[in-house]
Amino acid sequence: MGNCWCRWGSSLDRVSSNAKSESPNYESPTSKSWKEESKLPTNPEEVEDLRRHSAANPLVAFTYSELKIITSNFRQDQVLGGGGFGCVYKGLITGDLREGLQSLQVAVKVHDGDNSYQGHREWLAEVIFLGQLSHPNLVKLVGYCCEDEHRVLVYEYMPRGSVEHSLFSRVLLPLSWSIRMKIALGAARGLAFLHEAEKPVIYRDFKTSNILLDMDYNVKLSDFGLAKDGPVGDKSHVSTRIMGTHGYAAPEYIMTGHLTPRSDVYSFGVVLLELLTGRKSLDKTRPAREQNLTEWALPVLKEKKKMLDIVDPRLLGDYPVKGFQKAATLAYHCLNRNPKARPLMRDIVDSLEPLQVQDEHACHKMAMTAISI
Ligand SMILES: Nc1ncnc2c1ncn2[C@@H]1O[C@H](COP(=O)(O)OP(=O)(O)O)[C@@H](O)[C@H]1O
Ligand SMILES: [Mg+2]
Repeated sequence: MGNCWCRWGSSLDRVSSNAKSESPNYESPTSKSWKEESKLPTNPEEVEDLRRHSAANPLVAFTYSELKIITSNFRQDQVLGGGGFGCVYKGLITGDLREGLQSLQVAVKVHDGDNSYQGHREWLAEVIFLGQLSHPNLVKLVGYCCEDEHRVLVYEYMPRGSVEHSLFSRVLLPLSWSIRMKIALGAARGLAFLHEAEKPVIYRDFKTSNILLDMDYNVKLSDFGLAKDGPVGDKSHVSTRIMGTHGYAAPEYIMTGHLTPRSDVYSFGVVLLELLTGRKSLDKTRPAREQNLTEWALPVLKEKKKMLDIVDPRLLGDYPVKGFQKAATLAYHCLNRNPKARPLMRDIVDSLEPLQVQDEHACHKMAMTAISI
């Protein structure tokens, strides 16, 4: 879906057939039949109940006709992204839409009616997780629509779109070293928050297209459709149907379906490598041995001197060598095949904090603005 190259399986495999066990707070049904599935908490009263209890983030229940107004009838030239399960539209809530609502730019994600059951699963996961969690590095869910077969999410609008867009665009200027490190730290803080929550959450689909940016390159994690409650008590993992995105998912998760917070750490390592090299996690346009970024980079990451061979040439040498080596070594540890040997997200945050640098160009620009004022 969206910008994902290849989530596994057919669209029907995107989420485990056991919707309720994949989402927090719900009991698991035993049958996969549509009859059973239709007993899922799809009805508005249950969702309304959820809304009332979403203490961290009081959500607005939009009507479908309000969404038509917000998105100018889902105008095609306002599409921000999407794919398999529907589209994300740019929209505007105006002050006169409904009493109590303030004017706000939003992004509206519509789950396709054709995939209603699967779409509903992901929609529900997002309402539950984003309704309960609030952090500067998680996108804010403004509200939702659950009317007839419509399943829609309304988020705060992130003007620079996804990291995928900013990092790999051929038209935008390359991201500077300082911005890349800012993105890495913001994303790490978002994941650390999820892993350390009272009820820990595994994000499960960490990748550049799910990391969004505001005007100042502040990071917000989005797309919680595959997020899952982490293991509790003395359990080491949760067992799931294998879902995720090729090129990002941890090898042990692909092999066993055992999901732990360290699976997110592996995906974080892949994203960090993308930021350092400017290469996509999977790129079929490259020679065969370079198509999988992790396989290509890992042998090089073992040696401090060789590491510099894989730095993104679009940085034009404008990066601190020591900082690069530290970040590359961090990526190497995140990508350890042994999940227990990977660092915790909290340790990753601690390692990235000293790597933050003031962007000289930004400082220069700010100084010039100050002078002109
Ligand atoms: N809040 C937002 N602000 C701006 N763009 C967004 C927002 N949410 C999503 N997008 C764009 O839409 C794309 C797909 O959104 P996402 O939630 O990841 O949906 P999908 O489930 O299709 O992957 C993102 O990669 C991004 O480009
Ligand atoms: Mg996505």
